[in-house]
Amino acid sequence: MTAKEVFDLVRDDLALVERELASESTAAFEPVSEICSYLLGGGGKRLRPALLLLSARYAGYRGESAVRLAAVVELIHSATLIHDDVIDSADKRRGRPSANSRWGNHRSVLAGDWLYMLAFQIALEQRNFRTLDVLIELTKKMVEGELIQLAKLGKLDVTEDDALQLATCKTACLFSGCARLGGILGGISDTEEKALAEYGRCAGLAFQLVDDLLDFTASAEQLGKPVLSDLKEGKVTLPLIYAIQNGHREARELVQRVLAEKEFQSVRPEAIVALVRDSGALERVRLLALDYADRAKTSIDGRVDSEFARALLTLPDFILEREN
Ligand code: IPE
Ligand code: IPE
Ligand code: MG
Ligand code: MG
Repeated sequence: MTAKEVFDLVRDDLALVERELASESTAAFEPVSEICSYLLGGGGKRLRPALLLLSARYAGYRGESAVRLAAVVELIHSATLIHDDVIDSADKRRGRPSANSRWGNHRSVLAGDWLYMLAFQIALEQRNFRTLDVLIELTKKMVEGELIQLAKLGKLDVTEDDALQLATCKTACLFSGCARLGGILGGISDTEEKALAEYGRCAGLAFQLVDDLLDFTASAEQLGKPVLSDLKEGKVTLPLIYAIQNGHREARELVQRVLAEKEFQSVRPEAIVALVRDSGALERVRLLALDYADRAKTSIDGRVDSEFARALLTLPDFILEREN
C-alpha cells in the first residue's frame, strides 16, 4: 500500500478530527486560542490521530469515540510540543516561529497546561475509565521523559540504554497509547490489546530514531525546525553515542566542546556531521530503526486480515522513509 492509500482509509475521519481541533481551539480562552490555532494551522503530520483511527478500525470499531480520542491525542501532542519548545528554547516549529518565540515562555507554558486539560476534558466526556487510564499513564511518562532529558542535558556519558529509555518515554509511549486506545474502543482481548500496544511502542521508537537521524541528515526546510540542533541543545542522541563508540579518538573531545560552548563555535557543524557519517553511526541507528519497524509489524502480523491490518503493517515503512 502507498502512504496515500493508507491515509485514504481514514481520510474522512481525519477531516472530522481537523474540524474538532479547529472548533475546540476557536472556543478556547483567547490567549490559548491564539496559540492553539497558530500551532494547529502550522501543519503537522497528524500521525498519532491516524494511528489511533487505523487501530480502532483494525479492532473492528466504528463509532464516534475514535474521532474524539484522535483529537485528544493530537491535543496532548500539541501541548507537549509547546512545552518542549519552551524547555529547549527552540525558536522554530512546523516551519514557523515557535509559540515561545512569538508569545514568550510564560504564556506558552500556560497554554500548554490549558491544552492538556482540554484534552482530558474531551476524553472524560467518553466516560471510559480504561481510555482515561491509558491517557493519564502516557502523559505522565512523557513528562518523565522530559525530566530524564533535563537530567542528561549537556552530559556526554549517555548510554544506548539511556537513549532508548528516553525515546520510549518521550515518543514511543504516545504511539503505543494511540494504538492501544484504538484496540480498547474495539473491545478486543487483553492479548490483542497488548499486541497493539507493542506495535505502537516499536513504531514510536523507530519514529524517534529516525527523528534523531534527520537532525544530522535533513535540511531545515525539509524538517520545519533547525537541523543539528540536538547537540546544540545539549542532547547527545544515539547517532552521537555510536559515533563516539566507533569513531576516532578525538570524537569525544569534539562533542564535549560543542556541549561546553552550547553552539558551533570552535567546532564546525560539518566536523560533527562527518564524524557521525564516517564512524558508521548513521547506518547503525538506521538498522536499529529498521529492527523496531520489523518488530512493530511482527507483533500484529497474522492476527487480523483486513485492509486496516495491511495499513498498520505498512505504516512502519513510511516512518523509516519519512523526510520530515
Ligand atoms: C515531533 O513529532 C516530536 C517528536 C516526537 C520527534 P512529529 O514529527 O510527529 O511532529 P508533527 O506533529 O508532524 O509536527
Ligand atoms: C520530542 O522531543 C518531543 C516531545 C516528545 C515533546 P525533542 O525535543 O527531541 O523533539 P523536537 O526535535 O523538538 O521535535
Ligand atoms: Mg525539542
Ligand atoms: Mg525536547
